[in-house]
Amino acid sequence: MEVESLMAAQKEGSEGMRRGGGKAKKRLFIKTYGCQMNVYDSTRMADVLAPLGYEAVDSPRGADMVILNTCHIREKAAEKVFSELGRLRAFKQERAEDGGEMLLAVAGCVAQAEGEEILRRAPQVDLVFGPQTYHRLPEMVAMTARAGDGREGGGRGVLDIDFPAESKFDHLPEETSGQGAAAFVSVQEGCDKFCSFCVVPYTRGSEISRPVAQIVAEAKRLAEGGVREVTLLGQNVNAWHGEGADGREWGLGELLFRLSEIPGLDRLRYTTSHPRDMDDALIAAHRDLPKLMPYLHLPVQSGSDRILKAMNRKHTGDDYRRLIDRIREARPDIAMSGDFIVGFPGETDQDFEDTMQLVRDVTYAQAFSFKYSPRPGTPGADLGDQVPEAVKNERLQALQALLTEQQHAFVKSLVGREMDVLLEKPGRQPGQRVGRSPWLQPVIVDEKAGEIGDIIHVRITQAGPNSLFAEPVS
Ligand code: SAH
Ligand code: SF4
Ligand code: F3S
Repeated sequence: MEVESLMAAQKEGSEGMRRGGGKAKKRLFIKTYGCQMNVYDSTRMADVLAPLGYEAVDSPRGADMVILNTCHIREKAAEKVFSELGRLRAFKQERAEDGGEMLLAVAGCVAQAEGEEILRRAPQVDLVFGPQTYHRLPEMVAMTARAGDGREGGGRGVLDIDFPAESKFDHLPEETSGQGAAAFVSVQEGCDKFCSFCVVPYTRGSEISRPVAQIVAEAKRLAEGGVREVTLLGQNVNAWHGEGADGREWGLGELLFRLSEIPGLDRLRYTTSHPRDMDDALIAAHRDLPKLMPYLHLPVQSGSDRILKAMNRKHTGDDYRRLIDRIREARPDIAMSGDFIVGFPGETDQDFEDTMQLVRDVTYAQAFSFKYSPRPGTPGADLGDQVPEAVKNERLQALQALLTEQQHAFVKSLVGREMDVLLEKPGRQPGQRVGRSPWLQPVIVDEKAGEIGDIIHVRITQAGPNSLFAEPVS
């Protein structure tokens, strides 16, 4: 689930245009850590800043504004931010020596959780704002101008980490950043589940769902702009609910049915789900909607009922197994994905073995596994009986070996099969294009097979460790 991505680079306006008296463009560099919600937020920050003249560039050097959109989910994530801030201080200095200015901003979940700490530890930072306030970026940027010459270290120290009463979605401008063939649409934010290991309820705030009309309008605009596949996002995306066009209360299943009617939108996905919110309508959507891709990321975290209870997950291992059975009955070719934590406080060898057994029972096409990382302010951090690092390492290795074996077996099982692939980008080698299978693997084809944005029918000829090779079939 974790991705680290650079904002799609849109090169600055040409030198000629600037000399020709066009409005000077400002260079914006956004670096994104963490989950897809952050990736989505980064594109929306670029949308908010576009009217101020900011255009995305692909390097922080010489930029007028740098935003680190941060993740707080595990310890290393926050440490990465502080080391990146160290590196950026030199670029900020360089920019000042050239007579320019580089605004340095920290956004996202570390900003929300440790805003004041950031301003204290990194005096070069001008702006700190959380995941729910970035629609106010124009005001914040204006405030940095009023904040005078800044503090020792050069930063202006503007802080906005409220959980505002208004929803940012009611204030964001329409999307301006170029979208490819596949795009994200955030439909749900925040979390009220309070799993005892997790910071998200504190960094993203309480659960909210965007209204149906807003989501449909955004999806339509994307489809009109050439987007063929939309992934609906939320920390608990299947807890989404809202009043439908028919006046009834809808859940995610009904929303997917509605979105499947949008012309041009051919593929739908959603992530991340909680097992407790997989209701009948959503399972029915997997059965009845060909546009809903047969891939489901459904984290379980552990296979031990004792640990699941301590994690406050409110389901057992067998609840999860039964749920998967029902989903597979509805959509037999569905590929399962999940998240696992090893070394939660009190986890014994037997508890860990229960996790391994659950993985063997379910069989995953892909999965993410992590060592438990105690997060300040979460109940898990205060539990006794923390598991030694060496034991966590051993368990993680064993679990990852099993998951990798399952992933390879899944990818191999696709060789010889025919499927539709959405072409998304040029390949690394000249003459290639990369698309995505319905089960999310990258599929490499010859560029003559089709244009970016096409959905082509292919036969898989060969499997690498993480990607597939294919040839078109008519
Ligand atoms: N909302 C999603 C998960 C969001 S966080 C859900 O409920 O499933 C993504 C993943 O990070 C989690 O599924 C979990 O496996 C992992 N994670 C969260 N907190 C963690 C922690 N303190 N230590 C290690 N891994 C953690
Ligand atoms: Fe975190 Fe649990 Fe909420 Fe997922 S459901 S975001 S793991 S608290
Ligand atoms: Fe990280 Fe925040 Fe997402 S903590 S995983 S960026 S919700």
